Amino acid sequence: MSGVIMAVSLMWLIFVLKALTARCETREIHVKQTTGQECQTLQVGESWLSSSALECYRECAVRLSDKCQSFVYNSDNQTCTPGSVAFGPLENVNTSIPVTGSNDMIFYTKQPIPPCDTNGNFALYDICGTTACLYLSYFQAKYHDAISICNGMNSSIFFGNTLARFSVFWHVSLNYLKSNTWIGLTDLAVKDSFVWENGEPLSDQLASWIWRPGQPNRWTPNEHCAEARHGRWPGIYGLNDAPCGLSNFFMCEPFQR
Ligand SMILES: *[C@@H]1O[C@H](CO)[C@@H](O)[C@H](O)[C@H]1NC(C)=O
Ligand SMILES: *[C@@H]1O[C@H](CO)[C@@H](O)[C@H](O)[C@H]1NC(C)=O
Ligand SMILES: *[C@@H]1O[C@H](CO)[C@@H](O)[C@H](O)[C@H]1NC(C)=O
Repeated sequence: MSGVIMAVSLMWLIFVLKALTARCETREIHVKQTTGQECQTLQVGESWLSSSALECYRECAVRLSDKCQSFVYNSDNQTCTPGSVAFGPLENVNTSIPVTGSNDMIFYTKQPIPPCDTNGNFALYDICGTTACLYLSYFQAKYHDAISICNGMNSSIFFGNTLARFSVFWHVSLNYLKSNTWIGLTDLAVKDSFVWENGEPLSDQLASWIWRPGQPNRWTPNEHCAEARHGRWPGIYGLNDAPCGLSNFFMCEPFQR
């Protein structure tokens, strides 16, 4: 664990970490301090003690690898807490970070930028350190039509299967599409078991973070698709379950994962 160089760029702190990985690769890590207003942190594991914010990051990267998307360091008691970043504000979640009046410093890391052919319909969108390559629809479509349209562009309907990716979805839906938006999440196969478009089940932890309080509620019997519903509930965080036959805006992401 030798050879740590720390450089300060305009906003991002760049840590060049040597020998972090088994293969002794050098990795450049971009870490940004945040006030916790726009980009919030949700704790994903137990805290430990670290002698500095840099040590806190190094330990976080060793223990959680690329799941260390955010970390909180308190220089008063040297507590280091690993987290997941979220684009907020999250009205529906008790983040408890930073502790009010404490010396908690919140950081998030810049995740790798995916390949993206930006000459066509796709462009890069980033928030809180996570970037996605997306096509944004300029019209509304039923859920299954949205899937077909995405597939026709060698892409899938965008699904936010981590809190960081969900944050990109929420940010783009709120600030670019500015209207009700499908996300690739349904319980069409097994009622009440929501599954991402790539077949991965929605985890209980992520479910507790991304649904609007009281959702999914199957208000009508056929609500099997998940949407951001800004029209009805402007600016209020969290997904709603809706009939897949409704027409909403949507986003596509090139097949690759
Ligand atoms: C957050 O915590 C407060 C105080 O403990 C509680 O009243 C509130 O219901 C909690 N909100 C959620 C969404 O859990
Ligand atoms: C360190 O301080 C923070 C902020 O006051 C607090 O939330 C945390 O529990 C403390 N950790 C320990 C180990 O005392
Ligand atoms: C989709 O991928 C196939 C195979 O790589 C390619 O031939 C085709 O042109 C692509 N279609 C679009 C719309 O990009």
